[in-house]
Amino acid sequence: IQCIGVLTSGGDAPGMNAAIRSVTRAAIAEGMQVKAIYRGFRGLISGEIREFHTEDVSNIIQRGGTILRTARCDEFTTPEGRKKAYETLKSEGIDALVVIGGDGSLRGAAALSAEYNYPVVGLPGTIDNDLYGTDITIGYTTALDTIMEAVDKIRDTASSHDRLFIVEVMGRDAGFLALNGAIATGAEAAVIPECAIGPDELTRTLKQGLRKTKNSSIVLVAESEVTGGAIGVARRVRELYPEFDVRVTILGHIQRGGSPSATDRILASRMGIAAITALIEGQRNVMIGIKNSQLVYVPFSRAIKGDKAINRDLVNAVSILST
Ligand code: F6P
Repeated sequence: IQCIGVLTSGGDAPGMNAAIRSVTRAAIAEGMQVKAIYRGFRGLISGEIREFHTEDVSNIIQRGGTILRTARCDEFTTPEGRKKAYETLKSEGIDALVVIGGDGSLRGAAALSAEYNYPVVGLPGTIDNDLYGTDITIGYTTALDTIMEAVDKIRDTASSHDRLFIVEVMGRDAGFLALNGAIATGAEAAVIPECAIGPDELTRTLKQGLRKTKNSSIVLVAESEVTGGAIGVARRVRELYPEFDVRVTILGHIQRGGSPSATDRILASRMGIAAITALIEGQRNVMIGIKNSQLVYVPFSRAIKGDKAINRDLVNAVSILST
């Protein structure tokens, strides 16, 4: 492999820049040329590409977002779109591709590699942590810290006013942020799609707490049709218990920004090097994952299976700690 391409795709995640830096420098250290592709698969289709040298990735490890920009590209989900992308790769002389992104991006990467027998390695870049085969994804721990800081502030006003706050966090149908966010902030409950607790159970838990010692409560809700989001949960709680003074906060895209945590920087740096090593070893169509601190190769087909399980111990922990 003489020349690799690198792109970021889908929702941005803190640590993507650290990953771009690592992929670029590891490839250059191996004597490869690096071509940076802007705006994800859209830029691959339109040819928005330029060569990267080591200085192009200086002073970015601490920055959130992605210097390569990112996009969600509908055209790439079609065979015609992927054909155009493949033609760009050929005409640019790019021999292999490193894709940094989440579930949708790795699905696209897998389709491209299957149709054209083209070498692609993926790095799990998403705050959602919803990729199978890796304990954590790049961006997840930073998003968790952001949630924790925001909910700590909400707690101040919640307790001043004796209120119940229902806080919605991101996760695109996955409860990792909500569940661990609830543990980190001492929330009374986490409503997540993987094991949604009904409004009755939720309000019972809250009432118990309020009756005993608490004058305010915080509940974290994962965005999802299954949970109904924070607005849906608040509506049901208000119907059942009009005496609760309920407020809703949707944290939204604040969760995607900010300087990456040390964990995300180190993870992205290790995974970027591993992507280049994987390509040199002849690995194809795998995502780099981390399991028990060890880097592993996860076939795309497994990574995007969509059934990464929630740890039941964590669900129990929220319940035990809210008593
Ligand atoms: O996948 C990352 C994510 O932030 C999800 O948690 C969320 O559902 C989605 O992206 C939001 O996407 P957009 O940036 O297109 O609003």
